[in-house]
Amino acid sequence: MKIAVTGRQGQVVQSLLERAEARPDMEVVALGRPELDLLKPDTIRSAIAAVQPDIVVSAAAYTAVDQAEDEPETAFAVNSAGAGHVAAAAADLGVPVIHLSTDYVFDGKKAEPYTEDDRPAPQGVYGASKLAGEEAVTAANPHHLILRTAWVYSPFGKNFVKTILGLAAERDELTIVADQWGNPTSALDIADGILHVATRLREDSDFDAWGINHLAGTGETNWAGFARHILATNSHYGGASATVKDIATSDFPTKANRPANSRLATGKLARGFGWTAPKWERSTEVVVARLVSANEKGTENA
Ligand SMILES: NC(=O)c1ccc[n+]([C@@H]2O[C@H](COP(=O)([O-])OP(=O)(O)OC[C@H]3O[C@@H](n4cnc5c(N)ncnc54)[C@H](OP(=O)(O)O)[C@@H]3O)[C@@H](O)[C@H]2O)c1
Repeated sequence: MKIAVTGRQGQVVQSLLERAEARPDMEVVALGRPELDLLKPDTIRSAIAAVQPDIVVSAAAYTAVDQAEDEPETAFAVNSAGAGHVAAAAADLGVPVIHLSTDYVFDGKKAEPYTEDDRPAPQGVYGASKLAGEEAVTAANPHHLILRTAWVYSPFGKNFVKTILGLAAERDELTIVADQWGNPTSALDIADGILHVATRLREDSDFDAWGINHLAGTGETNWAGFARHILATNSHYGGASATVKDIATSDFPTKANRPANSRLATGKLARGFGWTAPKWERSTEVVVARLVSANEKGTENA
């Protein structure tokens, strides 16, 4: 199966490329700037058409949550209009699109994990632009699966795990927000989930359960709890540790408001596709171990 994925250096793109290397039945082609620029609709159609994929994965996005507050036009152009053009390009070729979206479409006021039936109410520009992207994808291609994920980390790119490891090398104590709850999700697991879902779409010609599914790491924590587990794992592998002091969101003001609860219920994906992500603690250990090993070898790539 040939998969075209949007973006080049992104965490999910890199994870998909790596996972597909171990799968002789899968070819993943990454399409990024300049040949595919989400701000230039013509490049989207021509780059995707040139690959003639069996399925399109829409993983590229404007992901700078705070910066989006200052650049709403760009965030919407990339995350909404751009995503819509990607889905339309897939529709032109008669193939499905798997589009990634976010837990930040929710306002965080619910006490329980959010299901696919809960009403989105984004708190910031990023979440609003991603919600508009879901709508654009839905309108452009009836054969769409929207996978909402959360708190993404990996051996690639910039992410919370790498930030915590970097800070631990410099400081003895870190102050981390403890009143925002969610599901840390490894991009490597997202890639596994995407390949599982893509295989089902390919093999089941009667598939008609299009729509939204939540795909996130199993289990929940807050950012301070996530940091503690990263540091404990790092220390286990001989790396630096640090004390984590809980603080409140109000002690660490950011430009964009973030939901206090963005936990995602993943039962629909489990029931519909028979796939569940591993526990977040285990996946974090896998990524930290790779980063420690890369650090020891002095290599960029973990
Ligand atoms: N990161 C998170 O915590 C998180 C949480 C929930 C949902 N998500 C969603 O999950 C998906 C994957 O996230 P990620 O963490 O892999 O993102 P990421 O690491 O921030 O990578 C973003 C990707 O988007 C590409 N991109 C940005 N603007 C573009 C443009 N104008 N044209 C073409 N490509 C462009 C980047 O291009 P380059 O390759 O050139 O850098 C990069 O490949 C996104 O849809 C995101 O909204 C992420």
